[in-house]
Amino acid sequence: MTRNIHIINGPNLNFLGIREPEIYGYETFEDILHELKTQFSKTQFHYFQSNHEGELIDYLQKNHKIFEGIIINPGALSHYSIALLDAIKYMKCPIIEVHLSNIYQREDFRKNSITAQGAKGVITGFGKYSYFLAVQYLLKN
Ligand code: DQA
Repeated sequence: MTRNIHIINGPNLNFLGIREPEIYGYETFEDILHELKTQFSKTQFHYFQSNHEGELIDYLQKNHKIFEGIIINPGALSHYSIALLDAIKYMKCPIIEVHLSNIYQREDFRKNSITAQGAKGVITGFGKYSYFLAVQYLLKN
C-alpha cells in the first residue's frame, strides 16, 4: 500500500483557479492538495509543479529511487512530449496519469496522450476528483 505519493503537475497547472475556470475549475491546486491531505490524512503527499519539460524530467530522475507512487498531470506535454514519456517509462513505481478535463471531449490535438503510454492507467474528466481516484488506486496497489 503506497503511503508516499508524489503529485507532479506540468505547464500552466500552477494557474488553476485563474485559467479557463469553466474547464479546469475555480479552485487552486493548493486548495485541492489541502483537501487531499485532509481526506487521506495518513498519506504523505509531495508536490512538484513546473512549466518546463526539462525540470519535470530532472525531478523524475532525481527522485526515481524514492518514489512509491506517482500521480502526474503533464498538461499540454501529454500531447507531444516523447522526452517526458521516456522518463516516465523508467519509473519503477506505479504512475497514474490524470487530467481534470475529459481530453476525449475536446479538440482533436488533445485526444491523444503520448505520455499515457508509460502510465499504468489514465483518469480523465473528473475535475479534481481525477486526483482523488488516482490516490485511491495507489493506496490499494
Ligand atoms: C489537462 C488537459 C491538457 O490538454 C491541457 O493542456 C492542460 C490540462 C487537464 O488536466 O485537463 O494543461 O492536462
